[in-house]
Amino acid sequence: MRRIGILTSGGDAPGMNPAIRAVVRTAIAEYNLEVIGFYRGYLGLIEGQSVRLDLSSVSGILNRGGTILKTARCEEFKTEAGQKKAVEQISKLNLDGLIIIGGNGTAHGAYLLANKWGVPVVQIPSTIDNDVAGTDFTIGFHTAVATATEAIDKLRDTASSIERLFIVEVMGRDSGHIALHTGLACGAEAILIPEIEWSIEEVCNVLKAGEKRGKTSSIIVVAEGVGSAVEIAKKIKDLINYDTRVAVIGHLQRGGEPTPIDRILASKLGAKAVEVLYEGKKNILVGIESNKFSFHPINYAYEVKKNVDLDLYKLNKILAS
Ligand code: F6P
Repeated sequence: MRRIGILTSGGDAPGMNPAIRAVVRTAIAEYNLEVIGFYRGYLGLIEGQSVRLDLSSVSGILNRGGTILKTARCEEFKTEAGQKKAVEQISKLNLDGLIIIGGNGTAHGAYLLANKWGVPVVQIPSTIDNDVAGTDFTIGFHTAVATATEAIDKLRDTASSIERLFIVEVMGRDSGHIALHTGLACGAEAILIPEIEWSIEEVCNVLKAGEKRGKTSSIIVVAEGVGSAVEIAKKIKDLINYDTRVAVIGHLQRGGEPTPIDRILASKLGAKAVEVLYEGKKNILVGIESNKFSFHPINYAYEVKKNVDLDLYKLNKILAS
């Protein structure tokens, strides 16, 4: 093995940069490999937007959010013709393997490259959503939860001072990992996630019970996958007429310095990805489960539904009562 490629794809996540750094430095310093970076994910792979990366190309990025390689969501790569162009670039550049950093949409493309086109691929799971099976946590999730928690702590100050209900919408696509972890960290009075059935009546009952005990403000954390926070706020207002405000944290959760936990996770997964690619493994997702490295075929990432931790949900119900 002489030369490998690397790209970041899908939604950017804080921690992608430390993962790139770990891949590049491990590949060069430990395995004497050349590293080619592709800009804009699969789009750059198709169009051959590449750059040779050396040890100093990744200096000063350990603490930077986003991805120096840029990222994109690429429709063309979903087509046979797009994939063919990508594979042509890989052979034109004499790449012996590819490391792909991204979430479960990215995994689908990575799996096709490995399985259908025979390219040795290792995927590093990175998305704020944490909806990738085969790893306890994806790179970026911890930072997104920290960002949302900081924002909600601030909302709590105004909510309790002016005695209001805040409905806060967080990201997560169709999964509730961010909402659940953030809600627990903030002591949310209720957490609404797609994985658990809920009703407006039930939410209003929780709020009313709190009011009876003297609560004059509350926070409800809503995962975007359950629907619009604005709609939920309207329904609550109609039922119990609380003074309610909505905050949508949105893309703020995707930015910012990766937390130390994300930097460490990214460093470990980046180095391990190079090691397994070098050993000749193909079609592998590297993760960490129960504090140990784990290896799964890439399709595992999106074919297996990663459940939210129901114990956290139950715990929040007790602690917020
Ligand atoms: O997958 C990451 C994510 O931020 C999701 O939480 C969100 O639903 C989606 O991407 C937003 O995508 P975009 O930035 O393309 O609007």
